[in-house]
Amino acid sequence: MPAVGGIAPGSGKKEYPGNLTPYVTVTCVVAAMGGLIFGYDIGISGGVTSMDSFLRKFFPSVYRKKKEDSTTNQYCQYDSQKLTMFTSSLYLAALAASLVASWITRKFGRKLSMLFGGVLFCAGAIINGLAKAVWMLILGRILLGFGIGFANQSVPLYLSEMAPYRYRGALNIGFQLSITIGILVANILNYFFAKIHGGWGWRLSLGGAMVPALIITVGSLILPDTPNSMIERGRHEEARTKLRRVRGVYDVDEEFNDLVLASEESKKVEHPWKNLLQRKYRPQLTMAIAIPFFQQLTGINVIMFYAPVLFDTIGFGSQAALMSAVITGLVNVFATLVSIYGVDKWGRRFLFLEGGIQMLICQAVVAACIGAKFGVNGNPGELPKWYAVVVVLFICVYVAGFAWSWGPLGWLVPSEIFPLEIRSAAQSVNVSVNMLFTFIVAQVFLTMLCHIKFGLFLFFAFFVLMMSIFVYYFLPETKGIPIEEMTQVWKSHCMENVKSLLCGYVFG
Ligand code: BGC
Repeated sequence: MPAVGGIAPGSGKKEYPGNLTPYVTVTCVVAAMGGLIFGYDIGISGGVTSMDSFLRKFFPSVYRKKKEDSTTNQYCQYDSQKLTMFTSSLYLAALAASLVASWITRKFGRKLSMLFGGVLFCAGAIINGLAKAVWMLILGRILLGFGIGFANQSVPLYLSEMAPYRYRGALNIGFQLSITIGILVANILNYFFAKIHGGWGWRLSLGGAMVPALIITVGSLILPDTPNSMIERGRHEEARTKLRRVRGVYDVDEEFNDLVLASEESKKVEHPWKNLLQRKYRPQLTMAIAIPFFQQLTGINVIMFYAPVLFDTIGFGSQAALMSAVITGLVNVFATLVSIYGVDKWGRRFLFLEGGIQMLICQAVVAACIGAKFGVNGNPGELPKWYAVVVVLFICVYVAGFAWSWGPLGWLVPSEIFPLEIRSAAQSVNVSVNMLFTFIVAQVFLTMLCHIKFGLFLFFAFFVLMMSIFVYYFLPETKGIPIEEMTQVWKSHCMENVKSLLCGYVFG
Protein backbone atom coordinates (compact mmCIF):
# COMPACT_ATOMS: atom_id res chain seq x y z
CA MET A 1 0.00 0.00 0.00
CA PRO A 2 1.46 3.36 -0.94
CA ALA A 3 2.38 5.89 1.72
CA VAL A 4 -0.22 8.55 2.12
CA GLY A 5 -0.08 12.17 3.16
CA GLY A 6 0.23 13.91 6.49
CA ILE A 7 -1.68 13.44 9.70
CA ALA A 8 -5.11 11.96 9.26
CA PRO A 9 -8.04 14.35 9.70
CA GLY A 10 -9.21 14.47 13.26
CA SER A 11 -5.86 13.37 14.62
CA GLY A 12 -5.41 16.74 16.33
CA LYS A 13 -3.22 18.51 13.80
CA LYS A 14 -1.96 21.74 15.29
CA GLU A 15 -2.07 25.09 13.59
CA TYR A 16 0.26 27.52 15.29
CA PRO A 17 -0.31 31.17 14.52
CA GLY A 18 2.51 32.89 12.69
CA ASN A 19 3.28 34.84 9.55
CA LEU A 20 5.95 34.99 6.97
CA THR A 21 7.42 38.11 8.59
CA PRO A 22 10.17 40.17 6.97
CA TYR A 23 12.27 39.26 10.01
CA VAL A 24 12.04 35.52 9.46
CA THR A 25 12.46 35.91 5.71
CA VAL A 26 15.66 37.94 6.01
CA THR A 27 16.98 35.63 8.70
CA CYS A 28 16.39 32.57 6.57
CA VAL A 29 17.85 34.18 3.45
CA VAL A 30 21.05 35.02 5.34
CA ALA A 31 21.28 31.56 6.93
CA ALA A 32 20.56 29.83 3.64
CA MET A 33 23.70 31.44 2.26
CA GLY A 34 25.50 28.73 4.21
CA GLY A 35 24.83 26.65 1.10
CA LEU A 36 27.06 28.90 -0.99
CA ILE A 37 30.31 27.42 0.28
CA PHE A 38 29.21 23.90 -0.56
CA GLY A 39 27.94 24.93 -3.98
CA TYR A 40 30.98 27.02 -4.81
CA ASP A 41 33.23 24.10 -4.11
CA ILE A 42 31.18 21.64 -6.13
CA GLY A 43 31.25 24.01 -9.09
CA ILE A 44 34.87 25.00 -8.86
CA SER A 45 36.58 21.61 -8.58
CA GLY A 46 35.34 20.17 -11.86
CA GLY A 47 36.37 23.23 -13.85
CA VAL A 48 39.77 23.53 -12.22
CA THR A 49 40.63 19.90 -12.83
CA SER A 50 39.97 20.41 -16.53
CA MET A 51 42.29 23.46 -16.77
CA ASP A 52 45.50 22.54 -18.56
CA SER A 53 47.74 24.82 -16.48
CA PHE A 54 46.42 23.29 -13.25
CA LEU A 55 46.92 19.75 -14.49
CA ARG A 56 50.41 20.54 -15.79
CA LYS A 57 51.47 21.90 -12.42
CA PHE A 58 49.96 19.35 -10.05
CA PHE A 59 49.04 16.31 -12.09
CA PRO A 60 51.54 16.18 -14.96
CA SER A 61 50.90 12.53 -15.75
CA VAL A 62 47.17 13.18 -16.27
CA TYR A 63 48.06 16.16 -18.41
CA ARG A 64 50.44 14.14 -20.59
CA LYS A 65 47.91 11.37 -20.99
CA LYS A 66 45.23 13.85 -21.93
CA LYS A 67 47.44 15.46 -24.57
CA GLU A 68 48.93 12.31 -26.05
CA ASP A 69 45.87 10.10 -26.03
CA SER A 70 43.41 12.29 -27.84
CA THR A 71 42.94 9.83 -30.67
CA THR A 72 42.42 6.77 -28.50
CA ASN A 73 39.79 5.82 -25.94
CA GLN A 74 37.96 8.98 -24.85
CA TYR A 75 36.31 7.25 -21.92
CA CYS A 76 39.59 6.83 -20.10
CA GLN A 77 41.52 10.01 -20.70
CA TYR A 78 40.93 11.45 -17.25
CA ASP A 79 41.13 8.26 -15.23
CA SER A 80 43.57 9.15 -12.46
CA GLN A 81 43.18 8.18 -8.82
CA LYS A 82 45.31 11.10 -7.68
CA LEU A 83 43.17 13.61 -9.53
CA THR A 84 39.97 12.16 -8.11
CA MET A 85 41.51 12.17 -4.66
CA PHE A 86 41.87 15.93 -5.04
CA THR A 87 38.15 16.29 -5.62
CA SER A 88 36.93 13.74 -3.17
CA SER A 89 39.25 14.17 -0.14
CA LEU A 90 37.00 17.02 0.90
CA TYR A 91 34.03 14.74 1.41
CA LEU A 92 35.76 12.52 3.92
CA ALA A 93 36.75 15.56 5.91
CA ALA A 94 33.17 16.83 5.77
CA LEU A 95 31.94 13.48 6.97
CA ALA A 96 34.17 13.59 10.04
CA ALA A 97 33.33 17.22 10.80
CA SER A 98 29.59 16.66 10.65
CA LEU A 99 29.88 14.16 13.50
CA VAL A 100 31.66 16.69 15.72
CA ALA A 101 29.20 19.36 14.61
CA SER A 102 26.33 17.30 15.96
CA TRP A 103 27.56 17.82 19.50
CA ILE A 104 28.34 21.51 19.05
CA THR A 105 25.00 22.18 17.38
CA ARG A 106 23.13 20.52 20.21
CA LYS A 107 25.13 21.90 23.12
CA PHE A 108 25.97 25.40 21.93
CA GLY A 109 23.38 26.15 19.29
CA ARG A 110 23.17 26.12 15.52
CA LYS A 111 24.99 29.42 15.09
CA LEU A 112 28.32 28.27 16.47
CA SER A 113 28.49 25.39 14.01
CA MET A 114 27.76 27.81 11.20
CA LEU A 115 30.55 30.07 12.40
CA PHE A 116 33.02 27.17 12.46
CA GLY A 117 31.84 26.27 9.00
CA GLY A 118 32.66 29.72 7.63
CA VAL A 119 36.03 30.08 9.35
CA LEU A 120 37.36 26.64 8.42
CA PHE A 121 36.22 27.02 4.84
CA CYS A 122 37.94 30.39 4.63
CA ALA A 123 41.23 28.90 5.86
CA GLY A 124 40.99 26.14 3.26
CA ALA A 125 40.34 28.65 0.49
CA ILE A 126 43.45 30.66 1.38
CA ILE A 127 45.70 27.59 1.42
CA ASN A 128 44.31 26.36 -1.88
CA GLY A 129 44.64 29.72 -3.59
CA LEU A 130 48.32 29.86 -2.58
CA ALA A 131 49.06 26.17 -3.22
CA LYS A 132 52.55 25.29 -4.42
CA ALA A 133 52.38 21.52 -4.11
CA VAL A 134 49.80 18.75 -4.09
CA TRP A 135 49.96 18.44 -0.29
CA MET A 136 48.83 22.05 0.06
CA LEU A 137 45.94 21.34 -2.25
CA ILE A 138 44.88 18.35 -0.21
CA LEU A 139 45.32 20.16 3.14
CA GLY A 140 43.24 23.04 1.83
CA ARG A 141 40.55 20.69 0.69
CA ILE A 142 40.43 18.98 4.05
CA LEU A 143 39.80 22.35 5.73
CA LEU A 144 37.15 23.16 3.15
CA GLY A 145 35.59 19.81 3.95
CA PHE A 146 35.53 20.58 7.67
CA GLY A 147 33.79 23.83 6.87
CA ILE A 148 31.16 22.12 4.74
CA GLY A 149 30.58 19.44 7.37
CA PHE A 150 29.76 22.09 9.98
CA ALA A 151 27.63 24.21 7.69
CA ASN A 152 25.61 21.40 6.17
CA GLN A 153 24.92 19.96 9.58
CA SER A 154 23.62 23.18 11.08
CA VAL A 155 22.10 25.32 8.31
CA PRO A 156 19.23 23.02 7.25
CA LEU A 157 18.26 22.50 10.91
CA TYR A 158 18.40 26.20 11.55
CA LEU A 159 16.12 26.92 8.60
CA SER A 160 13.59 24.23 9.44
CA GLU A 161 13.36 25.43 13.03
CA MET A 162 13.06 29.12 12.17
CA ALA A 163 10.47 28.82 9.44
CA PRO A 164 6.72 28.99 10.12
CA TYR A 165 5.64 25.45 9.33
CA ARG A 166 3.48 26.40 6.35
CA TYR A 167 6.50 27.89 4.59
CA ARG A 168 9.12 25.53 5.94
CA GLY A 169 9.66 23.83 2.61
CA ALA A 170 10.20 27.04 0.68
CA LEU A 171 12.45 28.64 3.28
CA ASN A 172 14.52 25.51 3.78
CA ILE A 173 15.06 25.16 0.04
CA GLY A 174 16.82 28.52 0.23
CA PHE A 175 19.76 26.36 1.31
CA GLN A 176 19.64 24.33 -1.89
CA LEU A 177 19.12 27.51 -3.90
CA SER A 178 22.36 28.85 -2.44
CA ILE A 179 24.10 25.60 -3.32
CA THR A 180 22.99 25.95 -6.93
CA ILE A 181 23.93 29.65 -7.06
CA GLY A 182 27.34 28.75 -5.64
CA ILE A 183 27.78 26.11 -8.35
CA LEU A 184 26.72 28.51 -11.09
CA VAL A 185 28.93 31.37 -9.96
CA ALA A 186 31.86 28.97 -9.71
CA ASN A 187 31.20 27.66 -13.22
CA ILE A 188 31.08 31.16 -14.66
CA LEU A 189 34.24 32.20 -12.85
CA ASN A 190 36.03 29.08 -14.10
CA TYR A 191 34.99 29.94 -17.63
CA PHE A 192 36.67 33.34 -17.41
CA PHE A 193 39.60 32.44 -15.19
CA ALA A 194 40.56 29.60 -17.51
CA LYS A 195 41.25 32.23 -20.18
CA ILE A 196 43.72 34.23 -18.09
CA HIS A 197 47.13 34.39 -19.74
CA GLY A 198 49.92 32.76 -17.80
CA GLY A 199 47.60 29.98 -16.63
CA TRP A 200 47.25 31.09 -13.00
CA GLY A 201 43.49 31.56 -13.21
CA TRP A 202 42.95 28.44 -11.11
CA ARG A 203 44.41 30.34 -8.13
CA LEU A 204 41.59 32.84 -8.41
CA SER A 205 39.05 30.06 -8.76
CA LEU A 206 40.24 28.28 -5.63
CA GLY A 207 41.03 31.40 -3.59
CA GLY A 208 37.66 32.92 -4.55
CA ALA A 209 36.05 30.46 -2.14
CA MET A 210 36.93 33.01 0.54
CA VAL A 211 34.03 35.19 -0.54
CA PRO A 212 31.18 32.78 0.26
CA ALA A 213 33.11 31.77 3.39
CA LEU A 214 33.11 35.34 4.65
CA ILE A 215 29.41 35.68 3.90
CA ILE A 216 28.46 32.75 6.13
CA THR A 217 30.99 33.76 8.80
CA VAL A 218 29.52 37.24 9.11
CA GLY A 219 26.00 35.85 8.75
CA SER A 220 26.47 33.46 11.65
CA LEU A 221 27.62 36.32 13.87
CA ILE A 222 24.56 38.47 13.24
CA LEU A 223 21.85 35.81 13.06
CA PRO A 224 19.65 35.08 16.08
CA ASP A 225 19.57 31.59 17.57
CA THR A 226 16.46 29.49 16.91
CA PRO A 227 13.87 29.45 19.72
CA ASN A 228 14.06 25.64 19.70
CA SER A 229 17.78 25.75 20.36
CA MET A 230 17.46 28.43 23.06
CA ILE A 231 14.89 26.34 24.90
CA GLU A 232 17.08 23.29 24.50
CA ARG A 233 19.77 25.23 26.34
CA GLY A 234 17.45 26.46 29.11
CA ARG A 235 16.95 30.06 27.92
CA HIS A 236 13.16 29.94 28.05
CA GLU A 237 12.10 33.56 28.40
CA GLU A 238 14.51 34.74 25.76
CA ALA A 239 13.14 32.03 23.50
CA ARG A 240 9.54 33.15 24.03
CA THR A 241 10.40 36.73 23.10
CA LYS A 242 12.32 35.52 20.06
CA LEU A 243 9.47 33.30 18.96
CA ARG A 244 7.09 36.29 19.12
CA ARG A 245 9.47 38.31 17.00
CA VAL A 246 10.02 35.52 14.49
CA ARG A 247 6.34 34.65 14.10
CA GLY A 248 5.13 38.24 14.14
CA VAL A 249 2.30 37.47 16.61
CA TYR A 250 2.02 37.89 20.37
CA ASP A 251 0.21 34.70 21.12
CA VAL A 252 2.81 32.04 20.58
CA ASP A 253 1.95 30.07 23.70
CA GLU A 254 0.84 26.87 22.02
CA GLU A 255 3.95 26.56 19.90
CA PHE A 256 6.16 27.68 22.78
CA ASN A 257 4.71 25.10 25.13
CA ASP A 258 5.21 22.37 22.57
CA LEU A 259 8.81 23.42 22.06
CA VAL A 260 9.34 23.24 25.82
CA LEU A 261 7.72 19.82 25.90
CA ALA A 262 9.92 18.62 23.07
CA SER A 263 12.93 19.98 24.86
CA GLU A 264 11.99 18.18 28.09
CA GLU A 265 11.76 14.95 26.17
CA SER A 266 15.08 15.79 24.65
CA LYS A 267 16.69 16.42 28.07
CA LYS A 268 15.95 12.85 29.09
CA VAL A 269 18.23 11.74 26.36
CA GLU A 270 21.82 11.65 27.40
CA HIS A 271 23.25 9.84 24.47
CA PRO A 272 21.51 10.99 21.31
CA TRP A 273 23.61 8.60 19.23
CA LYS A 274 22.62 5.55 21.21
CA ASN A 275 19.08 6.83 21.34
CA LEU A 276 18.96 7.03 17.61
CA LEU A 277 19.32 3.27 17.49
CA GLN A 278 16.18 2.69 19.53
CA ARG A 279 13.47 0.78 17.82
CA LYS A 280 11.01 3.67 17.87
CA TYR A 281 13.32 5.84 15.78
CA ARG A 282 13.94 3.25 13.11
CA PRO A 283 11.75 4.85 10.46
CA GLN A 284 13.56 8.15 10.92
CA LEU A 285 16.95 6.49 10.99
CA THR A 286 16.11 4.59 7.83
CA MET A 287 15.23 7.88 6.14
CA ALA A 288 18.37 9.59 7.46
CA ILE A 289 20.40 6.93 5.68
CA ALA A 290 18.28 6.19 2.62
CA ILE A 291 17.56 9.75 1.51
CA PRO A 292 21.16 10.99 1.24
CA PHE A 293 22.27 7.62 -0.16
CA PHE A 294 19.70 7.83 -2.92
CA GLN A 295 20.34 11.52 -3.49
CA GLN A 296 23.92 10.76 -4.41
CA LEU A 297 23.01 7.66 -6.39
CA THR A 298 21.01 9.84 -8.78
CA GLY A 299 24.45 10.43 -10.25
CA ILE A 300 24.00 14.22 -10.08
CA ASN A 301 27.56 14.86 -9.05
CA VAL A 302 28.87 13.16 -12.10
CA ILE A 303 27.38 16.14 -13.88
CA MET A 304 28.25 18.69 -11.22
CA PHE A 305 31.90 17.76 -10.72
CA TYR A 306 32.69 16.45 -14.09
CA ALA A 307 30.43 18.33 -16.50
CA PRO A 308 33.40 20.02 -18.16
CA VAL A 309 35.34 16.74 -18.25
CA LEU A 310 32.28 14.90 -19.49
CA PHE A 311 31.50 17.40 -22.21
CA ASP A 312 35.16 17.45 -23.17
CA THR A 313 35.04 13.65 -23.41
CA ILE A 314 31.94 13.83 -25.61
CA GLY A 315 34.00 15.96 -27.96
CA PHE A 316 33.20 19.56 -27.08
CA GLY A 317 36.70 20.87 -26.51
CA SER A 318 37.83 22.44 -23.27
CA GLN A 319 36.27 25.94 -23.52
CA ALA A 320 32.98 24.71 -24.96
CA ALA A 321 32.91 22.16 -22.17
CA LEU A 322 33.14 24.83 -19.50
CA MET A 323 30.43 26.78 -21.29
CA SER A 324 28.11 23.78 -21.24
CA ALA A 325 28.71 23.49 -17.52
CA VAL A 326 27.49 27.08 -17.19
CA ILE A 327 24.32 26.10 -19.03
CA THR A 328 23.60 23.17 -16.73
CA GLY A 329 24.37 25.48 -13.80
CA LEU A 330 21.70 27.93 -14.95
CA VAL A 331 19.14 25.17 -15.36
CA ASN A 332 19.99 23.99 -11.85
CA VAL A 333 19.25 27.40 -10.31
CA PHE A 334 16.01 28.05 -12.17
CA ALA A 335 14.61 24.59 -11.57
CA THR A 336 15.26 25.01 -7.84
CA LEU A 337 12.97 28.04 -7.91
CA VAL A 338 10.20 25.77 -9.18
CA SER A 339 10.69 23.65 -6.12
CA ILE A 340 10.57 26.66 -3.78
CA TYR A 341 7.28 27.59 -5.39
CA GLY A 342 5.74 24.13 -5.30
CA VAL A 343 7.06 22.29 -2.27
CA ASP A 344 4.51 23.57 0.24
CA LYS A 345 1.69 23.39 -2.33
CA TRP A 346 2.21 20.10 -4.17
CA GLY A 347 4.05 18.39 -1.35
CA ARG A 348 7.31 16.50 -1.10
CA ARG A 349 6.11 13.17 -2.47
CA PHE A 350 4.82 14.60 -5.72
CA LEU A 351 8.13 16.33 -6.42
CA PHE A 352 10.16 13.25 -5.49
CA LEU A 353 8.17 11.05 -7.84
CA GLU A 354 7.90 13.44 -10.76
CA GLY A 355 11.60 14.30 -10.56
CA GLY A 356 12.49 10.62 -10.40
CA ILE A 357 10.60 9.72 -13.57
CA GLN A 358 12.10 12.68 -15.40
CA MET A 359 15.64 11.73 -14.41
CA LEU A 360 15.09 8.12 -15.35
CA ILE A 361 13.97 8.94 -18.88
CA CYS A 362 16.85 11.35 -19.42
CA GLN A 363 19.47 8.90 -18.20
CA ALA A 364 18.21 6.25 -20.59
CA VAL A 365 18.33 8.68 -23.52
CA VAL A 366 21.82 9.95 -22.66
CA ALA A 367 23.10 6.38 -22.29
CA ALA A 368 21.63 5.52 -25.69
CA CYS A 369 23.15 8.62 -27.35
CA ILE A 370 26.61 8.10 -25.92
CA GLY A 371 26.45 4.36 -26.54
CA ALA A 372 25.43 4.88 -30.17
CA LYS A 373 28.28 7.26 -30.96
CA PHE A 374 31.09 6.07 -28.75
CA GLY A 375 30.24 2.38 -28.71
CA VAL A 376 32.44 0.38 -26.43
CA ASN A 377 35.80 1.43 -27.79
CA GLY A 378 35.28 5.12 -27.00
CA ASN A 379 36.23 6.37 -30.43
CA PRO A 380 33.42 8.54 -31.74
CA GLY A 381 34.88 9.78 -35.01
CA GLU A 382 33.36 13.04 -36.25
CA LEU A 383 30.51 14.24 -33.97
CA PRO A 384 27.63 16.08 -35.65
CA LYS A 385 26.31 19.25 -34.05
CA TRP A 386 22.77 17.95 -33.55
CA TYR A 387 24.20 15.15 -31.49
CA ALA A 388 25.88 17.49 -29.04
CA VAL A 389 22.68 19.50 -28.80
CA VAL A 390 20.60 16.43 -27.97
CA VAL A 391 23.02 15.26 -25.28
CA VAL A 392 23.22 18.67 -23.62
CA LEU A 393 19.45 19.06 -23.82
CA PHE A 394 18.74 15.79 -22.06
CA ILE A 395 21.42 16.44 -19.47
CA CYS A 396 19.69 19.77 -18.78
CA VAL A 397 16.26 18.15 -18.41
CA TYR A 398 17.85 15.62 -16.07
CA VAL A 399 19.45 18.38 -13.98
CA ALA A 400 16.09 20.18 -13.81
CA GLY A 401 14.44 16.99 -12.56
CA PHE A 402 17.02 16.66 -9.80
CA ALA A 403 16.89 20.34 -8.95
CA TRP A 404 13.22 20.33 -8.08
CA SER A 405 13.20 16.97 -6.38
CA TRP A 406 16.05 15.08 -4.81
CA GLY A 407 18.35 18.10 -4.65
CA PRO A 408 16.36 20.28 -2.25
CA LEU A 409 14.34 17.47 -0.69
CA GLY A 410 17.50 15.57 0.14
CA TRP A 411 18.22 18.35 2.65
CA LEU A 412 14.71 19.42 3.54
CA VAL A 413 13.05 16.12 4.40
CA PRO A 414 15.74 14.81 6.77
CA SER A 415 15.90 18.16 8.57
CA GLU A 416 12.16 18.14 9.31
CA ILE A 417 11.36 14.55 10.23
CA PHE A 418 13.41 14.09 13.40
CA PRO A 419 12.14 14.86 16.90
CA LEU A 420 14.23 17.41 18.78
CA GLU A 421 15.98 14.86 21.01
CA ILE A 422 17.66 13.15 18.09
CA ARG A 423 17.53 15.97 15.53
CA SER A 424 21.13 17.03 15.70
CA ALA A 425 22.55 13.50 15.74
CA ALA A 426 20.25 12.32 12.97
CA GLN A 427 21.16 15.30 10.82
CA SER A 428 24.79 14.31 11.23
CA VAL A 429 23.93 10.85 9.98
CA ASN A 430 22.27 12.50 7.03
CA VAL A 431 25.30 14.66 6.24
CA SER A 432 27.77 11.81 6.79
CA VAL A 433 25.93 9.42 4.51
CA ASN A 434 25.60 12.17 1.92
CA MET A 435 29.30 12.94 2.08
CA LEU A 436 30.31 9.28 2.09
CA PHE A 437 28.42 8.59 -1.10
CA THR A 438 29.48 11.86 -2.68
CA PHE A 439 33.02 10.67 -1.99
CA ILE A 440 32.42 7.21 -3.40
CA VAL A 441 30.72 8.48 -6.54
CA ALA A 442 33.42 11.11 -7.09
CA GLN A 443 36.16 8.59 -6.47
CA VAL A 444 34.93 5.85 -8.75
CA PHE A 445 33.22 7.84 -11.47
CA LEU A 446 36.18 8.30 -13.80
CA THR A 447 37.21 4.68 -13.37
CA MET A 448 33.66 3.53 -13.98
CA LEU A 449 33.37 5.72 -17.06
CA CYS A 450 36.55 4.11 -18.30
CA HIS A 451 35.27 0.58 -17.70
CA ILE A 452 31.51 0.45 -18.00
CA LYS A 453 31.36 3.38 -20.42
CA PHE A 454 27.88 4.58 -21.35
CA GLY A 455 26.51 1.84 -19.06
CA LEU A 456 27.35 4.25 -16.25
CA PHE A 457 24.20 6.20 -17.00
CA LEU A 458 22.16 3.01 -16.84
CA PHE A 459 23.76 2.18 -13.51
CA PHE A 460 22.45 5.44 -12.03
CA ALA A 461 19.12 5.01 -13.80
CA PHE A 462 18.66 1.74 -11.93
CA PHE A 463 19.05 3.54 -8.60
CA VAL A 464 16.66 6.30 -9.65
CA LEU A 465 14.06 3.60 -10.27
CA MET A 466 14.74 2.05 -6.86
CA MET A 467 14.50 5.35 -5.01
CA SER A 468 11.23 6.26 -6.67
CA ILE A 469 9.73 2.95 -5.61
CA PHE A 470 11.09 3.53 -2.11
CA VAL A 471 9.47 6.97 -1.85
CA TYR A 472 6.20 5.71 -3.28
CA TYR A 473 5.88 3.02 -0.65
CA PHE A 474 7.61 4.37 2.43
CA LEU A 475 7.85 8.13 2.64
CA PRO A 476 4.93 9.96 4.31
CA GLU A 477 3.97 13.45 3.21
CA THR A 478 5.35 16.11 5.55
CA LYS A 479 4.09 19.33 3.99
CA GLY A 480 2.25 21.68 6.34
CA ILE A 481 3.04 19.76 9.54
CA PRO A 482 4.65 21.67 12.43
CA ILE A 483 8.13 20.35 13.06
CA GLU A 484 7.59 19.31 16.68
CA GLU A 485 4.40 17.49 15.61
CA MET A 486 6.19 15.25 13.18
CA THR A 487 6.08 12.19 15.43
CA GLN A 488 2.35 12.10 14.72
CA VAL A 489 3.06 11.76 11.02
CA TRP A 490 5.05 8.65 11.62
CA LYS A 491 2.44 7.18 13.89
CA SER A 492 -0.43 7.67 11.47
CA HIS A 493 1.77 6.72 8.54
CA CYS A 494 2.58 3.44 10.20
CA MET A 495 -1.07 2.78 11.07
CA GLU A 496 -1.99 3.12 7.44
CA ASN A 497 0.95 1.10 6.31
CA VAL A 498 1.04 -1.61 8.91
CA LYS A 499 2.09 -4.05 6.32
CA SER A 500 4.82 -1.85 4.97
CA LEU A 501 8.28 -3.10 5.68
CA LEU A 502 9.49 0.03 7.34
CA CYS A 503 6.74 0.03 9.94
CA GLY A 504 6.64 -3.73 10.05
CA TYR A 505 10.06 -3.90 11.53
CA VAL A 506 9.29 -1.11 13.96
CA PHE A 507 6.26 -2.87 15.38
CA GLY A 508 7.74 -6.30 15.03
C1 BGC B 1 23.65 17.75 -3.36
C2 BGC B 1 24.97 17.90 -4.00
C3 BGC B 1 24.79 18.32 -5.44
C4 BGC B 1 23.94 19.56 -5.54
C5 BGC B 1 23.65 19.93 -6.97
C6 BGC B 1 22.88 19.02 -3.50
O1 BGC B 1 21.63 18.86 -2.92
O2 BGC B 1 23.80 17.39 -2.00
O3 BGC B 1 25.69 16.72 -3.88
O4 BGC B 1 26.01 18.57 -6.04
O5 BGC B 1 22.73 19.36 -4.85
O6 BGC B 1 22.86 21.07 -7.08
